[in-house]
Formats: sequence, structure tokens, C-alpha cells
Amino acid sequence: MTMSMWLPFLVVISAGVTILTEAQAPKVICKNVDAADIVYLVDGSSSIGRVNFQEVKDFIEETIRPFVNVRQNAVRFGLVQYSDDPRLEFTFRDHSNQSQVLTAVHNMRYKGGNTRTGVGLRYVADNYFGSNKLKRNVPKITILITDGKSQDNVGESAAKLKSQDVKLFAVGMCQPRF
Ligand SMILES: *[C@@H]1O[C@H](CO)[C@@H](O)[C@H](O)[C@H]1NC(C)=O
Repeated sequence: MTMSMWLPFLVVISAGVTILTEAQAPKVICKNVDAADIVYLVDGSSSIGRVNFQEVKDFIEETIRPFVNVRQNAVRFGLVQYSDDPRLEFTFRDHSNQSQVLTAVHNMRYKGGNTRTGVGLRYVADNYFGSNKLKRNVPKITILITDGKSQDNVGESAAKLKSQDVKLFAVGMCQPRF
């Protein structure tokens, strides 16, 4: 699988920055994103496969690289891998600079199992955006990366995120059809 098999996608962050990620996209630097809380929710189910999972990690790293302001009081990243159940990879507080975040993504190990996206979204809502103590007045974003249909219901969990003012973006992975 090469990057060209990805659906091109667009992430619009409410600070007004647009990141277009495509195989040939020019380098983007998001200096004017002062602060944001961004969680990746990554499908690690068996249908993805090890090779594609590596592509997913590369892809995540490429989308993190433009954010030069990764710090505790600025842009923070979290990551959850899910299949049957969610696995916490890192919280907003675990890493204090971009290279630490990139290393954590690089070292993430493929989980395998079924695809319960609803449970994954619920985990993000409860553990990243749930507690008042952790809340900051910054854009809140969840980027779901999955290869397809969930085996559980996602509606309620997606609604919970919405009620928390979290913007949810879905990135679809698909096999090309020629
Ligand atoms: C990132 O943070 C770690 C731990 O605090 C530190 O060891 C490392 O030098 C930092 N890297 C950069 C590029 O600032």
C-alpha cells in the first residue's frame, strides 16, 4: 500500500489553518496554531494488517510534523489504538515536545482484533475530554483513522464528543479499485 491509496483528506482546524495531506502535498508548517488538543483514534483491527498499520503510523507522523508548537501549554497530542477494546498509547500529558510524540507513534505496536469504533470514541470522550480539570479553552479535535465499518454502534459516542465541543474527523483507509 502506498500513500496514493489513501483517500486524500482535509483537516480544518478552527483556528483557521488548513492542512491538506496528499502524496505530493507541499510542506506545511502550522506556526499559527497556538494551542489545540488533538487525539488520534487509530483502528488496529486485524483487517488492517501489519503492512498497512505501518503506513498508518507513517501517515500520522506526517500529520503531526507540521505542528511546531507541541508543548504542554500549546498543542498537545493524544493517541488511542482500538480494536475490541481501546488501548491508551499516550495522554496529553505524556509528551512535552514533538520529537517525543513522533517517537511514541513510531513505537506503537499493532493490536489486532475486531473493530469496535463506538467503544473507542467513548474512551476518547471519557478520558481525554471528560474531566473538567483537564479542560482548556482551545480547539478540541479527534481524528479517527479506520478501514471501515464498525462492529458496534458509533452514534451515541459520536454525539457525546459533539456535546463536548470536540470536532471529529474521519480518515478512511481503503483498498484501491482499478
Ligand atoms: C524533548 O523532551 C525530552 C524529555 O524532556 C528531552 O529529553 C528532549 O531533548 C526533547 N527534545 C527536543 C527536540 O526538544
